[in-house]
Amino acid sequence: MLWNDTLLHDLVREKLGDARLVVVSNRQPYSHVFSGAEVRCERPASGMVSALDPVLRACRGLWVAHGSGSADRVAVDQHDRVTVPPDNPQYTLKRVWLTKEEEAGYYYGFANEALWPLCHVVFARPRFLLSDWDAYVRVNAKFATAILREIQHDPAVVWIQDYHFALLPRMLKEARPDLLVAQFWHIPWPNPEAFRICPWKKDLLWGMLANDVLGFHIRYHCDNFLATVDRELEIRVDRERSSVFHHDGIETLVRPFPISTDFEGISLQVTEKEVQHEARRFQERYALHGHRVCLGVDRIDYTKGILERLRAVDRLLTKYPQYRRQLIFLQAGPESRIHIERYQTLNEEITRLIAEINWRHGDGDWRPIILLRENLSLPRVLALYTLADVGVISSLHDGMNLVAKEYVAAHQDGEGVLVLSRFTGAARELQQALLINPYDTEAFADTLAQALAMDPVERRARMAGLRETVANNNIYRWAGKVLSTLFALRSNVAPQGALGIQLHEHP
Ligand code: G6P
Repeated sequence: MLWNDTLLHDLVREKLGDARLVVVSNRQPYSHVFSGAEVRCERPASGMVSALDPVLRACRGLWVAHGSGSADRVAVDQHDRVTVPPDNPQYTLKRVWLTKEEEAGYYYGFANEALWPLCHVVFARPRFLLSDWDAYVRVNAKFATAILREIQHDPAVVWIQDYHFALLPRMLKEARPDLLVAQFWHIPWPNPEAFRICPWKKDLLWGMLANDVLGFHIRYHCDNFLATVDRELEIRVDRERSSVFHHDGIETLVRPFPISTDFEGISLQVTEKEVQHEARRFQERYALHGHRVCLGVDRIDYTKGILERLRAVDRLLTKYPQYRRQLIFLQAGPESRIHIERYQTLNEEITRLIAEINWRHGDGDWRPIILLRENLSLPRVLALYTLADVGVISSLHDGMNLVAKEYVAAHQDGEGVLVLSRFTGAARELQQALLINPYDTEAFADTLAQALAMDPVERRARMAGLRETVANNNIYRWAGKVLSTLFALRSNVAPQGALGIQLHEHP
């Protein structure tokens, strides 16, 4: 049976009873920003957000996140809440405010200069500053206070997202041991050798082990986490059960839940007028007619392998000159985390490399690479997917990579070839993609040529296989699996009915 929003909604309502469902993340699903004197509502570029928004729409819970938009304070009520999406409100967003110092230390500092490179292992050195760590602890506590205030004495299930909140599970459980708490870690977990350099490794692990359920995208990251706990803490790790036993008999289940996308929603949305209109506008603006189009969509981040991708396009045009004047490579993606030096340098490197490649191969009015730096709305991103003969994902390391699955979902015409880095979680599922090692420029360029020259029968067969995989493992199934695992646990560790949860088997 295929999972959908109604099934997920029914599961959550049946199992939750009167309990509250609270989702917590750093990045908010909608942000309000000033555009001149007007207030505009934007959807931030984040794989985590694009995955969780349809889930919250289906479950109608409360989402707690950092209010980072310039006009966010204008949009909320006296409890810092706003209902979203703005045009069709379906759930409540509660904003938590951070000072500039907190944001600098917790978000730019510990989360993105220590944990992000530490977990991704892409030869970017993590930076561990005591002041960043202090801010990380303080902000985790600030979110704990906001959540506890929101739920008051109600029974609740709290579902925490990502590496910004490794300490939050323990803070919540210490205040309210009856809460059911799960965390999904959206980025990879490194091997114990890589992780052991972190000065606060034990605090992070103890924080995360307060979860009832801890999820990663793939089994490999679960195994890395269990091996790390085994090495760093005196606590019983049960590899067979894939769990960790605490001295008081409590258990943390560590499970793989490969995240996905709203396959059906995207397949439908691409047939709507708005997306088709945007596609025509892109075609006209960039004179795409008569060209083969390759596409990359990423936040500008050093883990995404954007420079490696550009080098492969450069090599392709040198080695396969038949694609000169033929090929347009669109690279879409907003700047990200720009207060971090490594990200500023990357932006400059990308601009320089594109200028060089366009100069080397450009001819008359044709330039092979076009960079779209702005944050694109979902209909515009979907329009780009539909226009692309080849979707290219070349992450150096990525927990999952949802762009790969969105590209597949958007190709309801059955066309399109996916070129995908082996170092993404998605590569484990999307077997009919052409898999590449982004560090191997020569083979990467050859694979791009193979994608462009692929026989239509093979192309459609591959896309059909990819679409079947993503359709069967959509975002509602992912959320359903995480939440069912959490709900099922309650019968083992707490008196029946403590959360008003009745236990029935669910698909
Ligand atoms: C990754 C993380 C998300 C994050 C996203 C965008 O997907 O797992 O938590 O939201 O990157 O990054 P940002 O720092 O802009 O939120």
